[in-house]
Amino acid sequence: MPPARPLIAVDGPAASGKGTVARALARHYGVAHLDTGKLYRAVGLALRLAGGDPADAVAATAAAERLDEALLGDPDLMSAMNAQSASIVSAHPGVRAALLARQRAFAEAPAGAVLDGRDIGTVIAPHAPAKLFVTAAPEVRAARRAAELARAGRAQPVEAVLADILARDARDTGRADAPLARAADADLLDTSDLTIDAAVARAIALVEARLRGH
Ligand code: C5P
Repeated sequence: MPPARPLIAVDGPAASGKGTVARALARHYGVAHLDTGKLYRAVGLALRLAGGDPADAVAATAAAERLDEALLGDPDLMSAMNAQSASIVSAHPGVRAALLARQRAFAEAPAGAVLDGRDIGTVIAPHAPAKLFVTAAPEVRAARRAAELARAGRAQPVEAVLADILARDARDTGRADAPLARAADADLLDTSDLTIDAAVARAIALVEARLRGH
């Protein structure tokens, strides 16, 4: 049997390594990659720039319905403050509904695709033949994110980064609509003790087994 279309769902909490793994998988299979967190971040940023409150479901849904593509390249998109706004807006069902079609269309590319986020394997592409749930210990994730922020000239104490990550984890796993969760058929990849190269090699091996064994 030929291998399945490489539609790969990568989910996991903040700074687990899922973005790095997803980008490497997209390169490996020669398919496009969508970082779905950027969509929620753009909605959060749109609200902040307009002086709105991310907790306002009506305003957040309106911002998601007319998503400003230019914000996807904004230097503030990836800031820690905007991550919190993204996690607040992402709990509104209207926001999730507004961003659904775009993500599903991306997943339908005939050549395959890699999407990373929180609900790819459970909601966006539950039929994906290969799913990974990437995780790591909170302290490891905080250290990685702190190093990343420092490299970007946005240094923050690691304790503050850990508190941010734990708050986001709690919000993302606790929300009613499409919470962060491991799909029943997702392979677990704990990157706590892995180098980037080892995590990528393991991810490719897991995906390859799924695509060939479908
Ligand atoms: O992946 P990233 O950390 O950039 O995502 C920012 C926030 O967007 C997450 O904390 C989460 O609340 C939200 N998100 C989501 N569903 C996704 C991707 C991201 O709710 N598929």
